[in-house]
Amino acid sequence: EITLKEAYKNYFKIGVAVNPNTLEKDGDLIKKHFNSLTPENHMKPEELQPKEGEFTFEKADKIVAFAKENDMELRGHTLVWHNQTPEWMFKDGDKEASREVALKHMKEHIEAVLEHYSKEPFYAWDVINEVIADEGDELLRESPWRSIIGDDYVEKAFEFAHAADPNMPLYYNDYNESHPEKREKIYKLVKGLKDKGIPIHGVGLQAHWGLEDPSLDNIREAIEKYASLGLKLHITEMDVSVFNFEDRRTDLSKPTEEMMKKQAERYDAFFKLFREYSEHIESVTLWAASDRYNWLNDFPVRGRKNWPMLFDTENQPKESFLRVTSFN
Ligand code: XIL
Repeated sequence: EITLKEAYKNYFKIGVAVNPNTLEKDGDLIKKHFNSLTPENHMKPEELQPKEGEFTFEKADKIVAFAKENDMELRGHTLVWHNQTPEWMFKDGDKEASREVALKHMKEHIEAVLEHYSKEPFYAWDVINEVIADEGDELLRESPWRSIIGDDYVEKAFEFAHAADPNMPLYYNDYNESHPEKREKIYKLVKGLKDKGIPIHGVGLQAHWGLEDPSLDNIREAIEKYASLGLKLHITEMDVSVFNFEDRRTDLSKPTEEMMKKQAERYDAFFKLFREYSEHIESVTLWAASDRYNWLNDFPVRGRKNWPMLFDTENQPKESFLRVTSFN
């Protein structure tokens, strides 16, 4: 039986999001099929620097050690975000931080993290995650970083990261990246950064997709637009939910045959598209190894099971896996 990384060795790296628990439970599957790891949570700001100046790298370092033992590379995720970020970063003692203090917190965090990992096999870092507003006229969403520092917090993050590690490829990462309205906004932001000479090297397409949405044409358009800026692309957090986003049903104890068939068709079409653009796409990361565990079991409906991955709850290959690996 072919493995994912074998099947794709002439196209792109095949990544998976992991945490210490999944490495323990699904380690064999992960070693067998993947050659790139992204920490699902353990390199986010609240995990790495929960208190000012107190860095907690232990869990994250276990992921790095696993990667090295198994000849894998890593994508860092994420230096700056509005979620999973400790409150102290936006404070100065009891008061709200000034622009200068917030910038200092951001800079020191970025420097410490990139410095800590400077000798490890990372091939990219998400510098900043999800800053675009999903709807409305504003380009950027509300975020404490933005309200304290101002809109230039985005470029500052890239500048701090580049100064800390001049050789590290730096990424902007977002979801709904293929929806026309948001796609245009992401394009505008990234183009603006490029035009200003800000050090940005790639765009991450999260690819939290479904059975119906987004359309292949919209995904193709996103790939073409971002690639037209001369940037590399990573598919960073792929999963294919069996529920539409509006569907809040909780009564399914297993997926229907229809769902699994449709999912396999979608995965097949997505990977075919990725192969077509492999000149631009450096890696494709799945946001979990199998249906046994994945974040969609809790999102957007808490406790509802989902079956979005290439392997089933017993870590066995699904129809989706077979379709994705049988193109030769
Ligand atoms: C998710 C994790 O998978 C969950 O375990 C956690 O509770 C919340 O964050 N976009 C991102 C990822 O960039 O960091 C998110 O990961 C999923 C959406």
